[in-house]
Amino acid sequence: MPEGPTGLSVFFMATRAHLPIGIFDSGIGGLTVAAAVKTLLPMERIVYFGDTAHLPYGDKSTAAIQAYAIKITEVLLSHQCKAILIACNSASAAAYELVTAYVASKAKVFDVINPVVDYLRERGELHTVGLIGTRQTVNSGVYEHLLRQKAGKTCKALATPLLVPMIEEGWIHNRISTQIIDNYLADPALKAIDALVLGCTHYPLIAKEIEAYYGEGVEVIDSARVVAHSLKAYLEYNYLLNPQAQAEKDLFLVSDLTSNFQAVTKLFFGEEVPLQAYPLWE
Ligand code: DGL
Repeated sequence: MPEGPTGLSVFFMATRAHLPIGIFDSGIGGLTVAAAVKTLLPMERIVYFGDTAHLPYGDKSTAAIQAYAIKITEVLLSHQCKAILIACNSASAAAYELVTAYVASKAKVFDVINPVVDYLRERGELHTVGLIGTRQTVNSGVYEHLLRQKAGKTCKALATPLLVPMIEEGWIHNRISTQIIDNYLADPALKAIDALVLGCTHYPLIAKEIEAYYGEGVEVIDSARVVAHSLKAYLEYNYLLNPQAQAEKDLFLVSDLTSNFQAVTKLFFGEEVPLQAYPLWE
């Protein structure tokens, strides 16, 4: 355990405890991560940004995602967020280091990959880890690299690009979704794994179907829940936990607002939340 904050720095941190947590994603799917954070940290205020004008990130280049990520980070910093969570796996893979360098000491930056790798490092019995995600996440090789370097694990990855549109269409827990999921999971690329990381914002919605496919033998890891725990531990340790609920409401910003984006908030957050338009480039 590193030495904790002391004296003046504790006082300074406590004065920031009331500030919001910024969460961003390529769109509405990141609300699964926001929901996991809200469940674990109900007193925290959230400023969410969904880059609906530029989704999907899963098929974008690293350079494009980096440019969007920095622009969104500026918005979140203008709301004085004490922590910024990159909820999108594709953006985590493409832009975590850049965003961290850009933010410097203004806020703590979390991605959805490193907390999962840290979690797996403690799980010595899990040797071979499967990963499903977008093409951007899988092709980046970031999970593979970090799992090997930080946790000593072998990673077997498969891009599963059909799953995002399928889930957004609301096709879950039906015959078609079961067939598509089973088809992907039966791919030889995912043979003989001990755990499977759900490496995409949308996949918590099909976690039950994936668990049903594997039965007992494979641990299915919901990265949204893992990162929420990691955020909580950081806030607790640094005296940054908000002691009481804030009068100000959570804020949900999107770079392009349509009635469909508004409607699918219910699917990903569990209840409908009011989206506000916030164009990134005027
Ligand atoms: N949010 C993205 C992710 O977690 C999935 C949707 C997209 O491709 O933009 O990778």
